[in-house]
Amino acid sequence: MNDKVENCIKDKVEDYIKENLSKERLEHTYRVRDVAIELAGVFEEEELDLELVEIAALMHDAAKEMPEEEKRLYCRLNFIILDDIFLKDIDLAHGLIASDMLENIFGCDEVDVLNAVKNHTFGRVKMSLLEKVIFIADYIEPKRKTPGVEEVREAAFEGKINLSVKLAVDNTMKFLYNNDMDVHPMSQGVKSYAASKAEK
Ligand SMILES: [Fe+2]
Ligand SMILES: [Fe+2]
Repeated sequence: MNDKVENCIKDKVEDYIKENLSKERLEHTYRVRDVAIELAGVFEEEELDLELVEIAALMHDAAKEMPEEEKRLYCRLNFIILDDIFLKDIDLAHGLIASDMLENIFGCDEVDVLNAVKNHTFGRVKMSLLEKVIFIADYIEPKRKTPGVEEVREAAFEGKINLSVKLAVDNTMKFLYNNDMDVHPMSQGVKSYAASKAEK
């Protein structure tokens, strides 16, 4: 995508979220954007396109506040395949929906950006750097106070992004187990893969 197209998509995304997200969610989104850009600076040798980082961050929760029925309908109409976890709690599919909207409504054809939006909730085995940056930025934005978040934040800003992914998934899994909530089957794989790649 050239700069002009990227800017045009970014404007469309921003108009959409300003119109469709609550003040709190919008503020969260901008915090995630700011952290994601900061993190991209930590990995500057890998040259992430900051416009793309921004588009992914701004879009990541765009569908979060869509009413449940609308989410189900969107998935049905757009052939989004949902596994049992998503069927049980459709809110968890907000990344899948946002990614589909970004591609088909806002015209983004950058697979990496689409994946970063799609996988920001659970992560994915073999995530790209952009996917990890969005996943972690969402986890560590300054208002997040989850136990263990400090460790994840530290690892990320030290450039140990795989370690931060491993720690974040580990924390989330522990929280879900302790609260008798479903753990996505992919989480163990994401954690193990990140652990195998983790920087010492
Ligand atoms: Fe989200
Ligand atoms: Fe988020």
